[in-house]
Amino acid sequence: MQNVKEYISQHKDRFINELIDLLKIPSVSADTAYNQDVLNTADAVKISLEKAGCDKVELCETPGYPIVYGEKIIDPNLPTVLVYGHYDVQPADPIELWDSPAFEPVIKKTDIHPEGAIFARGACDDKGQMYMHVKALEYMTSTGNLPCNVKFMIEGEEEVGSESLAWFVPRNKEKLANDVILISDTGMIANDIPSITTGLRGLSYVEVEVTGPNRDLHSGLYGGAVANPINILTKMIASLHDENNHITIPGFYDKVEDLSREERDEMAKAPFSLEDYKNALDIDAVYGEEGYTTNERNSIRPTLDVNGIWGGYTGEGAKTVIASKAYAKISMRLVPGQEWEEITELFKKHFESIAPKSVKVVVTPHHGGQGYVTPIDNIGYKAASKAYQETFGVTPIPQRSGGSIPIVALFEQELKSKTILMGFGLNSDAIHSPNEHFGVWNYLKGIETIPHFYKYFTELSK
Ligand code: BES
Ligand code: MN
Ligand code: MN
Repeated sequence: MQNVKEYISQHKDRFINELIDLLKIPSVSADTAYNQDVLNTADAVKISLEKAGCDKVELCETPGYPIVYGEKIIDPNLPTVLVYGHYDVQPADPIELWDSPAFEPVIKKTDIHPEGAIFARGACDDKGQMYMHVKALEYMTSTGNLPCNVKFMIEGEEEVGSESLAWFVPRNKEKLANDVILISDTGMIANDIPSITTGLRGLSYVEVEVTGPNRDLHSGLYGGAVANPINILTKMIASLHDENNHITIPGFYDKVEDLSREERDEMAKAPFSLEDYKNALDIDAVYGEEGYTTNERNSIRPTLDVNGIWGGYTGEGAKTVIASKAYAKISMRLVPGQEWEEITELFKKHFESIAPKSVKVVVTPHHGGQGYVTPIDNIGYKAASKAYQETFGVTPIPQRSGGSIPIVALFEQELKSKTILMGFGLNSDAIHSPNEHFGVWNYLKGIETIPHFYKYFTELSK
């Protein structure tokens, strides 16, 4: 497959421009104002799959945004790779922190990406990484290098919990039947230290509302005599971690699968510099659960974080007021063993139980999902490892990630196949943040590596 590099160098500018066009459509799934843009993006993905050589491409209707499905079946006796990705993106806010508009992609050089990076919302998560697969397919079909069958399933609600896909998958098991699921929606350690993601954390996302008096009050007339919901809420939140940063919700850790000393030692071999980590974030010290390293804290351990908190007066100047209500959005990242619905229930029970009589508390669950760990002794992992070996010249390191793609656990449950997470993004690519970007080198390296995966997977399946 020597000519994949050649093919890429011939078509590189077009590959970049096509991605830029896709990035211009603001497919923000969380905000209904972008409804038509999300739908337009689905259309654009559909057309791109047709052009890349799929025989059958359709927009599958769901209760929410459509799922783009495409396939090229060359021989039912050959293995089938199912590619998953998402065409929706996170909201761009806070927009004032972007150096260039989020939906007007520009290529700029950075220290980490000397060959340039494409700056736009969705560049890395996940339009850029998803589109690598479309272009890899184009290469394989147009040069006669597709060694097996391929199916694509690209959804538009990943960033808001994949509800429609969870509806779609169990209803379309036959259509989606496959031998391995391939996803590029994660990252790797560095451009010279490739890694394959072997684990994802689960998630439980809740919103809490604390109500004190039935109306906002003068903080002089009533202050000190009635509960201030903001004071109470912050106190309740603070109590969710103890002095060692363990989470205090009873039963929270009961089902956490602890890793053996050997597994933790193995993990610790991955190259990591705490100094670089702190410098990149401008912090003087890291923080977290006692007894665990930074990389353990952000991958194999569960966490609880406030994502947003509001209430009272936040406008200009001062207003002396005790608000009637205070709110927070809280996410818990979960690890294998923990059931997200059970954790949501434990949180609710505990949070209600610690509320003083002076306030009322309502806990509203949002979405959630299970974590995932994939073994490295299957042919999918081996094929991926060989593919990276071929294009990066080194063996990739297996690494558990702290992020979540909740639908992956459902794929295994419903479709009975393993997922291989070949991510080409970097932590510094600022996904979900202002100035999200994706290295041009990473984009092209992904396109180059994917066809090798197909080749090795087909060979190892024999
Ligand atoms: N692609 C990310 C998940 C990810 C990124 C995993 C990097 C590993 C490394 C995905 O789009 C995402 O943002 N997932 C959400 C969960 C979802 C339910 C909103 C997350 O992890 O917060
Ligand atoms: Mn993603
Ligand atoms: Mn995301």
